[in-house]
Amino acid sequence: MAATTPRKILVTSALPYANGSLHLGHLLEQVQTDIWVRFQKSRGHDCIYVCADDAHGTAIMLTAEKLGITPEEQIAAMHREHEHDSAGFLVGFDNFHTTHSEENRYWCETIYQRLKDNDHIAARDITQAFDPEKELFLADRFIKGTCPRCKTPDQYGDNCEACGATYSPADLIDPVSAISGATPIEKESRHFFFRLPELAGMLAAWLDSGTLQPQVANKLREWTEAGLQEWDISRDAPYFGFEIPGEPGKYFYVWLDAPIGYIASFQHYCERTGHDFDSFWQEGADTELYHFIGKDIINFHGLFWPAMLHSAGLRTPSAIFAHGFLTVNGTKMSKSRGTFIKASTYLEHLDAEYLRYYFAAKLGASVDDIDLNLEDFVQRVNSDVVGKIVNIASRCAGFLSKGHDNRLSAGCAEEELLAGFLDRGDLIAEHYEQREFNKAIREIVALADRANQYIDEKKPWVLAKQEGTGSQVHDVCSVGINLFRILMTYLKPVLPAMAEKAEAFLGCSLDWCALDGPLIDHQLARFKPLLTRIDPKQVEAMVEASREPEPPAAAITAPAEVPEQDMIKFEDFARIDLRVAEIVAAEHVEGADKLLRLTLGLGELGQRQVFAGIKSAYQPEQLVGRLTVMVANLAPRKMRFGVSEGMVLAAGPGGEELYLLEPHDGARPGMQVK
Ligand code: 2FM
Ligand code: ZN
Repeated sequence: MAATTPRKILVTSALPYANGSLHLGHLLEQVQTDIWVRFQKSRGHDCIYVCADDAHGTAIMLTAEKLGITPEEQIAAMHREHEHDSAGFLVGFDNFHTTHSEENRYWCETIYQRLKDNDHIAARDITQAFDPEKELFLADRFIKGTCPRCKTPDQYGDNCEACGATYSPADLIDPVSAISGATPIEKESRHFFFRLPELAGMLAAWLDSGTLQPQVANKLREWTEAGLQEWDISRDAPYFGFEIPGEPGKYFYVWLDAPIGYIASFQHYCERTGHDFDSFWQEGADTELYHFIGKDIINFHGLFWPAMLHSAGLRTPSAIFAHGFLTVNGTKMSKSRGTFIKASTYLEHLDAEYLRYYFAAKLGASVDDIDLNLEDFVQRVNSDVVGKIVNIASRCAGFLSKGHDNRLSAGCAEEELLAGFLDRGDLIAEHYEQREFNKAIREIVALADRANQYIDEKKPWVLAKQEGTGSQVHDVCSVGINLFRILMTYLKPVLPAMAEKAEAFLGCSLDWCALDGPLIDHQLARFKPLLTRIDPKQVEAMVEASREPEPPAAAITAPAEVPEQDMIKFEDFARIDLRVAEIVAAEHVEGADKLLRLTLGLGELGQRQVFAGIKSAYQPEQLVGRLTVMVANLAPRKMRFGVSEGMVLAAGPGGEELYLLEPHDGARPGMQVK
């Protein structure tokens, strides 16, 4: 039941970039947040959910230029699209704003000024690559060239997708600007830095405060213990963003103004609705603030953001809720496999509530990745939602409409059974509160099984054929409908549209705080189907519609004839020590876009650490326990992140089309590959 004093809660999910369409990865987060918010509202709390488009930065500026429109036109179009897609998934933002807003400009300037007043801003000159044609400073990802080690052309930034080498962009052979093709030059410019080390004490206390998920706090501690660096919060013109007051040609970096967008969106909401603003952002506020985010952006939310808020005299978040990545059929979403599914493509083929239910059934409170297995998705939704939950109502409704004019019986035949269902409410609520939606769903489905079992035992279809048992049929089906009412109340945060249809049928609201005794002598409306089964063909059609042609596979088009100078002698080949290796551990490498750190077991030969450029194709979790093949006698190479003691072998042109070689069953770690 609802607490007597409603809590005041402000909730956000990460602001999507106004540079591309929403995909199912975005929806995992928005649905997770939305379920939690709907749950809080259903419990009678004052819970507000705000979000916005993340509208600034170089990438958006370049996209608009390519399309021949202004950045403002680009972000306006994306805003409409994002809002439409989120609404399609029944994500009930109380406000969906944009970081390109006057509220956000005000808060960026205010916070910056407070940081400056506290001597938390430093200014100094730095040297960066510069595109002399576009007159633009180039971030690493906008520079490409030939790998200095393996000579593969067209490698971006500071590491090679083909051989995994890491280097400074200045080491690339024939570097060019990925934007204009011009050769970059080095240029100095003045930048502004947030002096994060000054807030080390505050951050240490924040990390120890117990409000963060343990895995998140540990990850953040690794960074703080390695030494906090000053954070560059400025970018040079041309840049689409807010100019820094008093610093012409200098702009706030998009990652500074993005989280401030949470404040701006909430302010916009307050101005629209008259809701109180101050009690949510002042230091020491007794309101609650939660950010739902993906695990890839915990440094921004877990370090920079609380430090900025603290320095600016604003409250820090009550907690940050990080979730894992979404994989589809066990692997990273892939355009060529048709599993990189846009929100709009999904909605063209399937009902949003199927996915909301599936996500809920899989989501827990940890940062573990969530897999959308498409076969399991069809099976689970059809079996749980249609086969169990909806079934309770549909099998009882017919009997109630026939002999009883859709009116529930005047007494409750199974008070204990109903009380048992109500009793589970506290536990289910606690699971929702803790974001253990998978546990909540497990409880609800177990109750649905009990409800169906009750109906199976009473067999109203048999009673209905007998003489003088009309009131028994009436009682049994009335109990069934009352059980359905409780279950739908518990499920409403997950299935709001189905719950609305159920409310119309039941003639009552399904809010948690309205849940008390059974409906007695109560008039129902005519039953209408609540949700139909998923036809696997709908899923196939969605995957087909998402499939994009494979990029030309460079690795497959080998030259017909190998030029003399590229031939190697057999003795050269024989010197390469190829071994079967077991992937004992695999982890992301902080600061590396393409590398994973692998610990490879070679049986009696011990273990090796290898940095492999395979992050675009694999999640670390998928790799652990697999066997692969490695070059075991490659001289150790010192890389920016540590020493790499070998190389794993993979096929494919790169990017997500990369396949680690794997020996047949029976091969053991350490065996030589001949
Ligand atoms: O990673 C992203 O997609 C960012 N646009 C998230 C920003 S969240 C917040 F800081 F605004
Ligand atoms: Zn290379």
